[in-house]
Amino acid sequence: MSVQGEVDMARSRVFGEVAELYDAARPGYSDALVAEVLAYAALGDRAAVEVGAGTGKATMPFAATGTPLVCIEPDPRMAEVLRRNTVNHPGVRVHAGAFEDWQPDGRGYGLVFAATSWHWTDPERRWDLVHAALAPGGAVALFWNPQGVRDGELHAALAGVDRRHGMAGAPHGEPASSYGEVPGDWAGQPGWPEDECRRDGRFTDLRAVRYRQDQHYDTDHYVGYLASLSRYRVLSSDRREQILAETAQVLNDHGGGIDMALFSDLFLARVR
Ligand SMILES: C[S@@+](CC[C@H](N)C(=O)[O-])C[C@H]1O[C@@H](n2cnc3c(N)ncnc32)[C@H](O)[C@@H]1O
Repeated sequence: MSVQGEVDMARSRVFGEVAELYDAARPGYSDALVAEVLAYAALGDRAAVEVGAGTGKATMPFAATGTPLVCIEPDPRMAEVLRRNTVNHPGVRVHAGAFEDWQPDGRGYGLVFAATSWHWTDPERRWDLVHAALAPGGAVALFWNPQGVRDGELHAALAGVDRRHGMAGAPHGEPASSYGEVPGDWAGQPGWPEDECRRDGRFTDLRAVRYRQDQHYDTDHYVGYLASLSRYRVLSSDRREQILAETAQVLNDHGGGIDMALFSDLFLARVR
């Protein structure tokens, strides 16, 4: 993943290999976060655009409020699951393609949001693109779901597996107790993506909010979650299976399953 430099294109498109697993294993986004975004955007009769909708983990709670949505998703395997998940929401339109190739057609949108996907968009163009899509006063909402292991001993054992395989980093890089209160520090870049937006200069009313809830995974669910992460997907299948088997063994040796702190970091801004 790259938050500021060049995007690893191949890595940005690996999720569709396991679209169903992704849909089953990844956490969703809380109603509180969705309510905060909609209150901030005050859409009125304007529609929203979702960048990198995937299988619809964030689409669904927005669609449930009746918000008209254009969902941009470049991976056809993810888009297929997205279409299936949103079949009962006629206000959801799926656009197959990358954000960088999408044309807003002069329609002024009230909100552009990106759930766990902004880091996959082109850092040189994304603020121009989002600015072009929004009506004056339109909102941008970017959010992620970083997670940290709550038990220090279990965290150390999982970090040991990762280290043996040269995989150090999230979600076992640091225990949940080190995550602090500051939204955005999960990528090792405090201030992300707020600083980038502030430098752009065309947006105002910047806000960042961190939510936290506790999440328990059984071993299979957690291993499935890891297998849906791009850093595991880019490994050869033999290597991935080996690391995941060792990870599962560690969880089972610690009583089975894992308790995580699930954070949702939300960043908001609006066009001046
Ligand atoms: C980690 S997934 C997030 C999916 C979903 N938003 C969620 O929260 O579960 C990242 C998604 O962004 C998509 N993506 C990658 N590059 C993109 C781009 N340039 N424009 C739009 N979407 C992109 C991927 O295909 C993938 O579905």
